[in-house]
Amino acid sequence: MQNNFMIGQISDTHFVDKKHKLFDKYDTYKRFIDAIETCNQLMKTPDFYIISGDLIHDNEIFYKDFFELCNKFKRPIYPMMGNHDKRKALRSFVKSDLIDENGYLNYTISSYPLEIICLDTAIENVIEGTLSESTLDWLEKKLLNNTNKPTIIFMHHPPIEIGSLLFDHIKCNNGKEFISLISKYKNVKEVIFGHVHCSFSEIINGVEFSSCPSASIQYPIGAKSDKNLELDTTGFIKLINYNDGTISKENIKIKN
Ligand SMILES: [Fe+2]
Repeated sequence: MQNNFMIGQISDTHFVDKKHKLFDKYDTYKRFIDAIETCNQLMKTPDFYIISGDLIHDNEIFYKDFFELCNKFKRPIYPMMGNHDKRKALRSFVKSDLIDENGYLNYTISSYPLEIICLDTAIENVIEGTLSESTLDWLEKKLLNNTNKPTIIFMHHPPIEIGSLLFDHIKCNNGKEFISLISKYKNVKEVIFGHVHCSFSEIINGVEFSSCPSASIQYPIGAKSDKNLELDTTGFIKLINYNDGTISKENIKIKN
């Protein structure tokens, strides 16, 4: 097994097709193309990409163009569910081994020295998230199988509050249950989420909980309301680098 590898993470693309704009204003079609080009021009190409939810904004017909563009990535992609995604439609675009026996997009990537677990936290057509009972059972089985391998967990909704009035009430609503489950497994090193459209990091009981900022638009973490909010149109990708047992992370600006 290789001692070094890199994950590219892209989150909250809120993709729309060429004819539309996000909120009638933001060109997330072009932004996604820019994100792919930024990835393809990196000095070192990630081994694979995790796209951590809210792939499309609001209409499942956008998946077709989204996944056609994904063919331009030089490496495999692993799509995840977000609250804006449509599970049934998304399932038809992903390989069957990314779907668990209950139809959730819960899967592991196991061929690297870090065990990678991707969790489906979406409740369809609801903004907040949850880990269903079957997902928590699935997670516990996976953790039990690999108690000695360092593990990193990806999920769309944060399991913790980040200090944002806009996002804390729409987080994963049973995050406490999740944290008490993973606290039994000292090999869980990091939890990385999307959804919050900003950069955040906190260490709780030795586990780092951090966000991947959005590839489309950022919300200020201190915003009190989303009315007349000036959004930052800088998009980011995240690089997660594993080097001989050490994990380092970096957010890279998407080039326009
Ligand atoms: Fe979201």
